[in-house]
Amino acid sequence: MSTVIAIDGPAASGKSSVAHQLAGKLGRLYVNTGNMYRGVTWAVLNAGFDLKESEAIAAYAKDLKLEFVDEGGRILMLVNGRSLTDEELNSEKVNGAVSLVAQVSDVRTRLVNEQRALLVRGDLVMEGRDIGSIVFPDSPFKFYIDASEEVRAARRSKQGLNDTVAMRDKLDSTRKTAPLIVPEGALRIDSSDLSLDQVVERVLEELRSRGAA
Ligand code: DC
Repeated sequence: MSTVIAIDGPAASGKSSVAHQLAGKLGRLYVNTGNMYRGVTWAVLNAGFDLKESEAIAAYAKDLKLEFVDEGGRILMLVNGRSLTDEELNSEKVNGAVSLVAQVSDVRTRLVNEQRALLVRGDLVMEGRDIGSIVFPDSPFKFYIDASEEVRAARRSKQGLNDTVAMRDKLDSTRKTAPLIVPEGALRIDSSDLSLDQVVERVLEELRSRGAA
């Protein structure tokens, strides 16, 4: 039976780098669920929807063609047969719209089902906002990576990304369906004053102490 290491946290907390590195070290598949919400948002914007049309967006997302391929140990989502570039997934337009699209409950249902189905492919490291709370609440391995708002905003601008971190966090934490929370049973790690390697080591330490690494 395959298992999931669930990594949650706010925008720019460093969770993607931690999850990616961890997956490589442990030989697990890496799944970035934020990119799935970004991919659907890109398609919604590309199809010309007004973000207020949540019912139309829900219907569109239900039938959207999504495929998942293993590319060197990371799962990539193809949207209508197309692999999206990092520039497309992280564009200013997608940054500004993704939290709104992620509030549409049928969008979440579709993607949560897809995320659960990935478990048949093997052991996973999956990162997002609701992995330990909703997608895999029974996972024995849950981590919540945090960092102060200043540190997170600085990290994003250092990457040259124009991202509205504070606004997205507010929307992601206060939405009705699957808000960002510290999942029950998760180990919270504040990465504000830690290097990437130190955070990964802290996660590995915990996993080792439980015989899982
Ligand atoms: O991880 P990220 O910052 O790239 O995620 C982009 C957005 O997707 C985030 O602001 C909220 C949404 N998201 C979500 O609602 N649930 C997840 N499991 C992952 C991301």
